This record gives sequence, C-alpha cells and structure tokens, in this order.
Amino acid sequence: MAPPSPDQIEYVPYSSELQLPGIMTLIEKDLSEPYSIYTYRYFINNWPNLCFMALDKTSSESDVCVGVIICKLDRHRDAYRGYIGMLAVKKEYRKMKIGTSLVKMAINAMKSLNADEIVLETERTNVGALSLYQNLGFLRDKRLYRYYLNGVDAFRLKLFCRGGGNEAGAGSATMSKELEDKMYEQNRMSDDPKTKRQEN
Ligand SMILES: CC(C)(COP(=O)(O)OP(=O)(O)OC[C@H]1O[C@@H](n2cnc3c(N)ncnc32)[C@H](O)[C@@H]1OP(=O)(O)O)[C@@H](O)C(=O)NCCC(=O)NCCS
Repeated sequence: MAPPSPDQIEYVPYSSELQLPGIMTLIEKDLSEPYSIYTYRYFINNWPNLCFMALDKTSSESDVCVGVIICKLDRHRDAYRGYIGMLAVKKEYRKMKIGTSLVKMAINAMKSLNADEIVLETERTNVGALSLYQNLGFLRDKRLYRYYLNGVDAFRLKLFCRGGGNEAGAGSATMSKELEDKMYEQNRMSDDPKTKRQEN
C-alpha cells in the first residue's frame, strides 16, 4: 500500500457522537493513561468546538479518523485558560505535520474565544510531543513528579496567548536547567500526584 500523502487528509471539527468510537480507538492505542467514556464526553460535549479531527478521505469508514485533538477552555484563577486534553495521530500518518496542524487549529479556536493561555501536560520522555509543542512556542512551565499512573514525570507546557510571550520561538522554549531542577525539587517535595492532577 502506498504511504499516505497530505492531500488525502481533511481537517474537520467534531460534529457527531458517531465519531466518538473512532476517536477513542485512536487515542487508546497511544496514550498511557486510560480514559473512561465520561472523560471523553466531558470534554467533547462541553467543548465540541474545541475538538478537531484529521480524516483520511481515501480510507475505509472504520479507520477514517487518523488524528484528533480534544481541548477545553475555562476560567483558571484570573486567566481564561485553554487546556489540550488529548492529542494523537495514527502511527502510519505521523511526521506529516498532522499533529502540528491539529494543534494550530485548536490554538486558533481558543484564541478566537479569548484564551489568555493554553496549557497541557506531556510525559517527560515524550520527545516527539515536546518538540512539536516547543516548535509552536509552548514553554516548559512545571515538572510534575510521578504525574502519570505509569510513574513517569510530566512537563506542564504553556503558551501565552497575549503579549510578547506569544511570539516565543523554539530557542526560548526551554527554561534553564537550574530553574527546571529547582521547580522539579519543589514539586517533588510538596506534591501528591492526585492533587496535582486536579490543580491543572
Ligand atoms: C506526538 C504526535 C501527536 C506527533 O504527531 P505528528 O503528526 O507525527 O507530528 P508532526 O508531523 O506535526 O511533527 C511536528 C514536529 O514534532 C516533532 N516530532 C514529531 N514526532 C517526533 C518524533 N517521533 N521524534 C522526534 N520529534 C518528533 C518534530 O520536531 C516534528 O517536526 P519535523 O517533522 O519538522 O522534524 C504523535 O507522535 C502521536 O500521536 N504520539 C502518540 C500520542 C502522544 O504522544 N500524544 C501527545 C500527548 S501530549
């Protein structure tokens, strides 16, 4: 079978509960955290306009969804905060900028709804996701000790949507090693992963 080409990919907003099984199948294959259907519904039913899919127009109906991003947007302290809850691209379709395109669509949608900032967590070891987000201007905000059920630490990444922070390029997207170590130590000493999980 020929490798997929960018021309066969169509980007669409979520539009029907019938798309949920395809979304769940895609995400469950790749993310280390198990999510219940209620978690999917919490995001998608409350913020359907912040869920985008990449579809392979040439594919059979059962595996048409080859990429998805699921987000929310609500108040966090003084800020209006966007949150990227899930992002996945099917293995055979990676490194074609589908992930980048989905994140850009989500960022634009959240900015148009007046988001002040956008955050997400990713495994400290997830090199692909870290560079994808850093290329888009996300900064490493915190290191969360043993955040995931598999015991791996997370980085919380943040994109500032207002002011100069929005323009951050890849070079400025990492905090200094010294600061990172200091924040890591603070988090490790004071945090219960479950509390951190809810804090967002
Ligand atoms: C992370 C993921 C969404 C990337 O999707 P993708 O469509 O392949 O990403 P893109 O093609 O847009 O890649 C953009 C950039 O990200 C980086 N990147 C992506 N995959 C990478 C990898 N495996 N190794 C290193 N860098 C990688 C590169 O800098 C790449 O730019 P380049 O192609 O110019 O080198 C995909 O690998 C995936 O679904 N992984 C499993 C689920 C997951 O980890 N989700 C993120 C949770 S926060």
